[in-house]
Amino acid sequence: MKNFAKLIFICLVISSEAHKIDQTIGEFIIDVTSSMYMRSSFTAFFCIDTTDAIIFSRQISRRQVMHEIIHDLKNINLTNLLTKISSQSFFILDFDCPNVEEFLLQMDLNEMFIAPNKWLILQNLENFPDKNLTLTINTEDFKRYFEALQVYPDSEVTVGQRIDENFINIISMYRPGPSGNIILEDRGFWSDLEGLQISDKNPTSRRRQDLQGTHLKSCLVMTDLDTLNHLSDYKDKQIDAVTKANYIWVQHLVNRMNATIDFTWRNTWGYQDKNGTWGGMIGLLDRGEIDIGGTATFLISSRIGVVDYVQLYTPVGSRFVFRRPPLSYVTNLFTLPFEQSVWIAIGILLIVVSILLSLTMRWEWARIMESPSKYHLGGELESKPTASDNFLILLGAVAQQGFEYLPRTISSRIIIIMLLIAAFSLYASYTANIVALLQSTSDSINTIEDLMNSGLKVATYDIVYNRYYFGSFEDPVRKEFSQKLIANKSSAWLTLEEGVARLRQGLFAFHMDTSAGYDLVQKTFEEDEKCGLSEIDMLNVLNPMLVIKHQSPYSEIIRVGALWVQETGLTGHDVPRLFSKMPKCSGQTSFVNVGMTECRAAMLTIVYGMIASVGLFFMEILWHKCSRNDEIDEEVMEASEESPDPEIQSLE
Ligand SMILES: *[C@@H]1O[C@H](CO)[C@@H](O)[C@H](O)[C@H]1NC(C)=O
Ligand SMILES: *[C@@H]1O[C@H](CO)[C@@H](O)[C@H](O)[C@H]1NC(C)=O
Ligand SMILES: *[C@@H]1O[C@H](CO)[C@@H](O)[C@H](O)[C@H]1NC(C)=O
Ligand SMILES: *[C@@H]1O[C@H](CO)[C@@H](O)[C@H](O)[C@H]1NC(C)=O
Ligand SMILES: *[C@@H]1O[C@H](CO)[C@@H](O)[C@H](O)[C@H]1NC(C)=O
Repeated sequence: MKNFAKLIFICLVISSEAHKIDQTIGEFIIDVTSSMYMRSSFTAFFCIDTTDAIIFSRQISRRQVMHEIIHDLKNINLTNLLTKISSQSFFILDFDCPNVEEFLLQMDLNEMFIAPNKWLILQNLENFPDKNLTLTINTEDFKRYFEALQVYPDSEVTVGQRIDENFINIISMYRPGPSGNIILEDRGFWSDLEGLQISDKNPTSRRRQDLQGTHLKSCLVMTDLDTLNHLSDYKDKQIDAVTKANYIWVQHLVNRMNATIDFTWRNTWGYQDKNGTWGGMIGLLDRGEIDIGGTATFLISSRIGVVDYVQLYTPVGSRFVFRRPPLSYVTNLFTLPFEQSVWIAIGILLIVVSILLSLTMRWEWARIMESPSKYHLGGELESKPTASDNFLILLGAVAQQGFEYLPRTISSRIIIIMLLIAAFSLYASYTANIVALLQSTSDSINTIEDLMNSGLKVATYDIVYNRYYFGSFEDPVRKEFSQKLIANKSSAWLTLEEGVARLRQGLFAFHMDTSAGYDLVQKTFEEDEKCGLSEIDMLNVLNPMLVIKHQSPYSEIIRVGALWVQETGLTGHDVPRLFSKMPKCSGQTSFVNVGMTECRAAMLTIVYGMIASVGLFFMEILWHKCSRNDEIDEEVMEASEESPDPEIQSLE
């Protein structure tokens, strides 16, 4: 009897603690799953008995929603629970269960309230004494429990308060920042007849963009401390233009969020050292000391996961800039006017003409010898035509220099006329073409490989990120380029002023921050020197982007805000004021100087010819000596059979 009473007592205790999870709640959960949270499964923390759990489970299963019910809030297997976090799942908690406070703290320690996790908390207020409920009265509990938890604007914590048998009030709550109070949003209601009625269907990041004066921290990257004095006056735009632009944009962003911000500064964006720790601004973000990186950074793969990138691009880049070299610098100009096939055709023509010419000249000679008077042969006797006569005629015709030969028969005249006309038209087109080619610049340098093989001098703007990038290339071509031409050479690291000055002199490629560099180019170059500038991308990175703390509670609000800053034209307003584009070429007016570079091929031909002629000269002397020796001294000749080298012999 005593035992029986005890049993009843225990049953009463359990049933008074347990929240009624009935058909109505089941319907409500199904509606939330499908139309509010758009998820396909959930994990529920209920304290109901097995029979009720089975009934509930059956009801949910009938609607094809996967679920799991966990009874014991005290001994949660966290490893198990963490595997359940997915974009397809959410969590449900019965707020009337015992040990809820402990449970919430434990969940908070494991960051279970931050995105993408979603929560639905059920509270039963059916027995609440005052039926005329207002938000303030029935949420005191939440305020107390959630006050210290990380329920920030990206959290999705929705509360379903059952006020009536068939009526559930829906609110959601968050804190705008670590020091902010709980803010409650009235989301609507659910009722048996009307289903889910959500008043504000905007996504969370839209509804919660007012952070109510939450204090954010940020960091600026400055390579020159004077930047502090010119953050928003658009002055000195060669220095830290990215910092200045982003400072203004972050201010817009923060104003839109109704937050406040203060900035610290570092002199580098931050790279990973050998210990694996990050320095500079990235280090501050990594350690959670700041919320927003105030200065845009390049997207580097090793930074992904350490910080989050936001698509607020700053339109600057670092590239190799050079003035396109004259065509003659890259190739032999003198072969360019004709295509290869034309050159071959000219060669064939000359061979054919020289064969025909030698035939007709021989024949002509024979005719003249037969009757010299008929061909008005003068007093002096002409010599018999030889191959070198033939060659001189061809050369004279092709080079437009004339020749001595006088054709006397019809056949030789026909051949000479053909030769002259062909040579004339070829000469005309050749000279016309070469003048145009002398003035043109080469566009054959388009890749890093071209640049490496072009023989142009290269140098780099000496700034932190270039030091990093030029030491960390992975792919063989750029690595070789960097090691061969840049990394170890102190002469390859210049200031912007030096680099741009050398750029102006030509035959030089300078790797610079294009915006700052072009600003200087615009100021220092003559008008016609601005023509023919060319760029090659070496770093191969996206434009720098804004970075924020990894898994920041404001990430969605900042992302939307960043788009807003761009779409409203706030970035468009500052970009032309801070970033210079490649100067426009307003017509090439200057004369082209033809110098040694342009005539290099011709000069080389002359030099080689001279060397060859001197060589021939000595060979002639040798040959002459040998042949004379042969005649004079036959004994030496005999002796030379022992020593195979006649030259050594003759020198003796
Ligand atoms: C939690 O669950 C996992 C796998 O289900 C198991 O390996 C582990 O031992 C459990 N941990 C505790 C504390 O029960
Ligand atoms: C309920 O509250 C409203 C205003 O908050 C008041 O006007 C109304 O009289 C109250 N009703 C009852 C029954 O207390
Ligand atoms: C901004 O936040 C303050 C609280 O710091 C608040 O009083 C004010 O109404 C908010 N402004 C707007 C426009 O929401
Ligand atoms: C690396 O870590 C060790 C010990 O933690 C420290 O003494 C050293 O200064 C660190 N080196 C760098 C480059 O941070
Ligand atoms: C350049 O420096 C790297 C290491 O910094 C070294 O491995 C390489 O041999 C050096 N190259 C030359 C040409 O000195």
